[in-house]
Amino acid sequence: MKERFTRREFLTTLEAIGLTVALDGFNWSKAAEDSAAALRPKKAAALEGKPVITIAHCCDPQLGFGEAATPEEAYADDLARLRKEVELLNKLNPDLVLFAGDMTNNWKEVAKDWPEVLKTIKAPVLVAPGNHDIPDPVKAPVVTVFADVFGKEYDSIVLGGWKIIAFNSQYVRPTEEKELYDAQVEWFRSELEGAKAAGLRSIVASHVPPFVKSLDEKDEYFNFPATLRQTFLDYLVANDATFYLAGHTHTTLERDYLGTPILNGETTSRNFDRRDFGFRLLKIGEKLDYTWDFVEVQKQPRR
Ligand SMILES: [Fe+2]
Repeated sequence: MKERFTRREFLTTLEAIGLTVALDGFNWSKAAEDSAAALRPKKAAALEGKPVITIAHCCDPQLGFGEAATPEEAYADDLARLRKEVELLNKLNPDLVLFAGDMTNNWKEVAKDWPEVLKTIKAPVLVAPGNHDIPDPVKAPVVTVFADVFGKEYDSIVLGGWKIIAFNSQYVRPTEEKELYDAQVEWFRSELEGAKAAGLRSIVASHVPPFVKSLDEKDEYFNFPATLRQTFLDYLVANDATFYLAGHTHTTLERDYLGTPILNGETTSRNFDRRDFGFRLLKIGEKLDYTWDFVEVQKQPRR
């Protein structure tokens, strides 16, 4: 445990993502290794057959964060690209559109254009809130602003044999909203463990990824506190979470934990690695083969 964490803070962050069980002495590490020894996803150049599920993985639309001369122009550019992204999504017709957070750069502007944009997306939509949507520490009135537009602060959907769970990773930082984070703890555990009990595989999504490059990297803005990374990931893998989709880094990343891919795709606002704007299409096959292909969203004229 890092010295700068008090015991209360440590418990708070663990509890916040559904890991009170980790303190009961259960060996999640062993359970994760056993689960990982079973079939894990394998990336392929092309799927052998038809996909059993197709998910559009969209990162950080973050209206207002793009590079432009003024904040207004940045917002207009980001919105134009988001509209183009929706046009492409509707053509591709995925089973699900997953937004891995940071819907706007300034959470106060979330109701400005998103309600209208959401109406134009044909596929079901899941959103994992970002740090620009619900800044830390989490505060109830801000959660309400977000939920008024997107329906819920966290949510899940069952598609075929899969459960996709999008949670609010803002609770990995301490918050005084105990009732809210307790509610997410209970919900997350029941969703994930319930999925396994029902014979479903899970895909977990959050804005902040558990780690950027390696499990033992230092704590920073872009990852979970080191104290909870491994326990959380063991808990996920032990419960048959088979993919982890994230945002936040504005950098495209592919790595894994015990064979479970952890993926961060391109954004439509700003890519720190200078990659083109766009999103990813995750297609999973019968035998857990998968593709995660880039779909470009070209620069759009401002409206
Ligand atoms: Fe972001």
